[in-house]
Amino acid sequence: MASDPNLIVCADPDALAETAAQLIVDAATEAVTERGRFMMCLAGGETPRATYARLALAAYSERVRWDRTWVFFGDERAVPPDHPESNYRMAYETLLSRVPVPPEQIFRMHGEHADSDSAAAAYAVALAEAFGTRRGELPRFDAVLLGLGVDGHTASLFPGSPVLREVFRTVAAVHVAAAQIPQRLTLTFPVLNAAARVVFLVAGAEKAKIVRAVLSEQALLPAALVRPTDGELVWLTDRAAAGLHPVGEVR
Ligand code: 6PG
Repeated sequence: MASDPNLIVCADPDALAETAAQLIVDAATEAVTERGRFMMCLAGGETPRATYARLALAAYSERVRWDRTWVFFGDERAVPPDHPESNYRMAYETLLSRVPVPPEQIFRMHGEHADSDSAAAAYAVALAEAFGTRRGELPRFDAVLLGLGVDGHTASLFPGSPVLREVFRTVAAVHVAAAQIPQRLTLTFPVLNAAARVVFLVAGAEKAKIVRAVLSEQALLPAALVRPTDGELVWLTDRAAAGLHPVGEVR
């Protein structure tokens, strides 16, 4: 399967959430039918909030086999899980506490751990165990959701960071001086690019410049390095975020 980005421009953030929720339901159905379970990776930040809330509504959530769904995270800030800046907390409040996913199938990153390298290594072990991968094998997510920062970062893969060159570890601890919470844990490119489907969720006019830069590959930005090697890449944006990019199937 090709990894050429498929750009879907939605009329507004509501339509974006609806399209994303439907896409997740479809991915879950396909994965459970074909492989017996759905391995999903959630994005942090603010944009996915509306998608998670939508997915938690009965019209969507009743169509997902939550008992066959495993939930992971693309990145986490160095805060406890009840902190307002916790990606886990946002996903828990909007989605995970509202659907019947078994708690033992939810894997949060322990961002608050004093030793962030150990926390990253522990998450890599959790991933390998859940996927049943052996040393050297990469987990293959059925669906990975990602956001886009105005500087072109995605997950906690920031421009200029040494972690962009990671080829072996699936999870890493990173320090991002420019970020409000500098210490973070993140999945790396090898695991993101091994996914069956990666979906970027991007909304708002403040993202328009960076969407244009990433999609036109004007610069080697972290988000542009997400190119699934044998999977599908989808960019879901609202009209404002795609405002400077000259394409558009508007939904
Ligand atoms: C994080 C992220 C990050 C985020 C982007 C976009 O923990 O900060 O996962 O990569 O997705 O910064 O964030 P917004 O959706 O809030 O703009």
